[in-house]
Amino acid sequence: MRVMSIVGARPQFIKAAAVSRALRARDGITEVLVHTGQHYDANMSDVFFDELEIPRPDYHLGIGSALHGAQTGRMLEAIERVMLDERPDMVLVYGDTNSTLAGALAAAKLHIPVAHVEAGLRSFNRQMPEEINRVLADHVSTLLFAPTQTAVDNLADEGISDEKVNRVGDVMYDVALYYADKDDAQSRILDDLKLSAEQYVLATVHRAENTDNTERLRAIIDGLSGVARDIAVVLPLHPRTRSALQRHGLMEIADSQLTIIPPVSYLDMIMLEKNAAVIATDSGGVQKEAYFYRVPCVTLRDETEWVELVKIGANRLCPPSCSKEIEDIVRAGLRDGFQKDARLDLYGDGRSAERIVGVLESA
Ligand code: UD1
Ligand code: UDP
Repeated sequence: MRVMSIVGARPQFIKAAAVSRALRARDGITEVLVHTGQHYDANMSDVFFDELEIPRPDYHLGIGSALHGAQTGRMLEAIERVMLDERPDMVLVYGDTNSTLAGALAAAKLHIPVAHVEAGLRSFNRQMPEEINRVLADHVSTLLFAPTQTAVDNLADEGISDEKVNRVGDVMYDVALYYADKDDAQSRILDDLKLSAEQYVLATVHRAENTDNTERLRAIIDGLSGVARDIAVVLPLHPRTRSALQRHGLMEIADSQLTIIPPVSYLDMIMLEKNAAVIATDSGGVQKEAYFYRVPCVTLRDETEWVELVKIGANRLCPPSCSKEIEDIVRAGLRDGFQKDARLDLYGDGRSAERIVGVLESA
């Protein structure tokens, strides 16, 4: 069986680390790995292939950045060409980026079955580009790998046949367990930044709804700066956010109040996460990792797809409209911690990738 995996953005490289390993462990499967080039800076792409030992892509399409339509359209055209050459039996897409949509759509048009990893997530906010991507990808998929029961229920509510849906757990948990102690041996980030365990807040920001809105971005920077009066706030800066801070004239204040660093490798990131006192983020993946490492999380968004984390008290939603509120909620996390329920099984048992491959084999 020939499986073509389509990746392009940082979180997809991390998810593919688990699934590619499982795919390549099976005799009857050949994986063809396609990198769209959506993320291309060394610290947004190559570093993950090197550190997580992800096989080199068989095809690198070099699409790069553009407006949504242009970026997705260029990917669609290039992916179609590769699919016509390779004629895979199945196409595997991950998550909710433009690379996901382009891969799913190109395959569906060529009548190649699509398998969607991380299916069924919903924010119910169609202003988010990711929501459009995931809804469309789910509806053209033949196999839907849902991480949680909520995701399974969302798909049922949209009329997607339960025969296509498999609840397999979350591959990010597989990755977290696989690399669990490797950061201790390999990461020097705490020493390099002169940080001690639980003596800093870790923040990440990159969602379009936050970076492209001056008021929200300002509220986030001001809120985090308020926290930084008492405890260091470390912000590995996504390139989208770097240019947004410059564009909105907020770079100087951010730089003077926060510990701004370039995007870091996965092992450095999990080292920073595990040792943080609180994590404040608008990332999907980072919300879950905060829970894996039992660090209180503040989500700087109006809603989250990972609703079970809010329900158990591991994560608190903080719509980033008011700097004072952001500061207060992060401080509450520092004071109380949020995680009330010690259950660590929300996202499976770390064997999601194996389950996915098992389903693919019998498809
Ligand atoms: C994308 C995904 C988002 C995901 C995020 C993970 C879409 C619509 N969005 O958002 O769901 O959470 O990746 O990080 O697919 N840039 C660089 N270098 C790079 C990559 C990007 O400088 O290597 C800059 C460019 O100015 C680009 C901007 O970042 O225009 C945004 O990149 P893009 O891939 O379009 O979206 P992300 O915000 O990264
Ligand atoms: N991550 C990383 N370095 C960073 C920021 C994030 O390795 O500087 C990892 C993080 O640990 C998680 C994934 O990237 O595994 C999340 O990706 P991102 O926040 O870009 O996207 P999202 O999950 O929101 O789609």
